This record gives sequence, structure tokens and C-alpha cells, in this order.
Amino acid sequence: MSLRCVSCGSLYPGDPRLFRCPRCGGLLEVIYDKLKVEGGVGRGVWRYQGALPRLSRVVTLDEGGTPLPRLDNVSRKAGAEVYGKLEAANPTGSFKDRGMSVGVSVALSVGAKIVVAASTGNTAASMAAYASKAGLKPVVLLPKGAVAKGKLAQALAYGAKVVSVKGNFDKALSIVRRLVEEGLAYPLNSFNPYRLEGQKTIAFEVVEEIGVPDYVVVPVGNAGNIAAIWKGFKEAYSSGVIDRMPVMIGVQARGANPLEEALATGSYKPVEKPETIATAIRIGDPVNRDKALKAVKESGGTIISVSDEEILKAGRMLARNEGLLVEPASAAAVAGLLKLARRGLIKEGSIAVTVLTGHGLKDPDFLATITGDEAIVEVDDEKGAARVLETLTDTQDNL
Ligand code: F0G
Repeated sequence: MSLRCVSCGSLYPGDPRLFRCPRCGGLLEVIYDKLKVEGGVGRGVWRYQGALPRLSRVVTLDEGGTPLPRLDNVSRKAGAEVYGKLEAANPTGSFKDRGMSVGVSVALSVGAKIVVAASTGNTAASMAAYASKAGLKPVVLLPKGAVAKGKLAQALAYGAKVVSVKGNFDKALSIVRRLVEEGLAYPLNSFNPYRLEGQKTIAFEVVEEIGVPDYVVVPVGNAGNIAAIWKGFKEAYSSGVIDRMPVMIGVQARGANPLEEALATGSYKPVEKPETIATAIRIGDPVNRDKALKAVKESGGTIISVSDEEILKAGRMLARNEGLLVEPASAAAVAGLLKLARRGLIKEGSIAVTVLTGHGLKDPDFLATITGDEAIVEVDDEKGAARVLETLTDTQDNL
């Protein structure tokens, strides 16, 4: 196993404490001497051991192996066959668990005692759960007042020490980098290339279940997941498991769209004050930007943005018409796909996978926004309840 710089191509031994290319400062990726992508035994992330770091002790909560239902209503609207990869089905309710199983196992292998991450919420919850299982101390740096309530409650419940940073996620992440440089803790943000290894298994699972889709639509925040999934497809291709590649589409929130802008203008500029209801992807300076931009370019894809209104609409539609409760960042993926379809950019009858990254229950404020008060009716007795049902049968054919 080695590390390769994605900017200058330099190669290094697979040192789990190397997070930047010593030559050019670029991001690193894990490469294997012997790569085997075919599924092994069982289900979930570790089914693909042949494509993951070999570790003496694996910390797992049986993450991965998530469902991939067909989204009938979204499909009709998009004029394509659309599937949703339900990452909410992971142990802490988001795709981060795939990465944390690998990342926390690597932290153990280097003898770490404290693990640290900046987070918009899901990374914090996930890292805290895996660290508690492994007997490590989790410390999370969260942007003050900008994390969904369920995620904060999760991180605390799993025993994390929460450091509330006056500022946004980007500031919290820059603090983490400094703490790590001082050797105070082992980092599990996605600049740690080992974490992304777990997340690439999303691609392997999709391939095993439905083959190679035409499009994979991924919400983009710190831009690690879209890069990880693309790496997964590339590895499946290079090992002969698949013979064609999907187009990768990244979706950012309108008020936090530095990568959409970078693609459109050809130059990268962070968004100083990112704003969106999709707090998970409220990130102005994504650390994995180079990997993500490379992934979408190589795949012939793009990065677009959607407004908060489009996110709310997609979230409500997923709940009301598909029976899926997802958090705003995940709804953004579906909003993005529908936007491209409206513009005629999704081929008629093609196959698209939307990565539904996190559970709706994590964000009660969002749920309140997509829920109408009119749905609650107070009654005193059976008669009152019967009247409610009668009004429904009057207005629509329910039986
Ligand atoms: N969707 C959800 C639900 C997320 O929590 C995140 C990122 C993303 C999408 C974007 O993934 O960062 O790899 O581009 N959440 C991080 C966190 C930043 O701290 O939980 P990305």
C-alpha cells in the first residue's frame, strides 16, 4: 500500500500520518499493490476487503450494504430510471460510517488515543460512535449554532467532547489542521485519505446491485465523498469488474457553491460566508476540491447548485411521494438531478443513482419546515376521530 499525490503524482509509503504531499502540499490518495474489487463474503464495507487497507483490528458496526430503492416519482419527473442509495440506513444515519470504520481502525493501528474532526454534524456523530466502540476519545469541532440538533445530540450521546467554534466549518477545519500539526490528536476529516477508502464502497455496492449507472449524483460539501465514489468506480474499472464509467454530478447549495463557480470560471475562489439550510454542506472552502474537480472532469460530469427552495421542495417530495425522509443535503442531490433533467441534460431512459447521504430525523428544524401543521387534528373522542376520517373519504377515494 502506498500514498500518491493527486497533484504531482509523487509516491510515498502508506504512512497513516501523512496528510499532504511533502513535495507540493497536494492531497494524497491510497493505492494498492494488489487490488481486488470483487465482493467477498458478507455484506457492507468489509465485503470489499481486497480493496481496503489491511489492518490487524477492524472497528465495525456493520456499516454499508445500504438499500437502493427505485424512486418511482422522481423517475417519472426526470424521464430516467432513478435510484436512491439510502445512506441513512448506516448505523449512525449517514454515509460517514463507511469512512469511519476504516479511519478509526487506522487510528487504532497507529496507537492514537484521541481522534479529532471538524464537522457540520454527521462526521462528528459517526466518529464519536466508532471511537466509543474502539475505546478512543473523540473530540469534535463544530461551527457554533450551525449544526442540526439531532447530529449534535448524537455526538454528545456517543460521548464526544464537543468544541463549539465561533465561526464556520472552514474555520473549525483549519483549527483541526493546526492541532494535528502539533501532534495533539489523530484526524478523521476527509483530508485523511484512509477515511475515503471506506466511502468508495458506495460505488462497489451500486455496481453489484444494478451495474454501472449512467449518472451518479452526489451532494458536495467538503468534496470528499464524490471523489471517493469516483475512485471506487475507477478501481472497479481497472480491475476489470466493469467496462464503462458513469458521469459524476456534484450538487452544491446555491449559497455554498465554490466548486460550481470554479468549473464555470476556471478559477477557484472560496465562498467567505457560506449560507444554506442544508447545514451539512454549508462549506465555503472544500478541502478535497482538487480531487472532486478532477473526478467530475475525468467523468465528463459537472457540479451545479440548487437553491434552498429547491432543496425544500425535493425533501418534501421524497417524504410525501417516495416514503423517504432525508436531510436537506441529500434532498439537494435529487433537486440537482431534476434541475438537469428540466434542462434536457439527462438522457431519456438513462439510469441515475442519487446518493441520499443522511437521515431526515437528524434535522428536526428541516422536518418542521416540510411538514404542514394542518395535518394535526385534535379530537376528544371516537366521534371526533371518525369525523376526521369522513372528511378524508369525502375528498378522496381512500378505500
Ligand atoms: N451529505 C451529508 C448528509 C453530509 O453530512 C455531507 C458532509 C455531505 C453530504 C457532503 O459530503 O463533505 O464529502 O462532500 N458532511 C461533513 C460533516 C462535512 O462534517 O459531516 P462531502
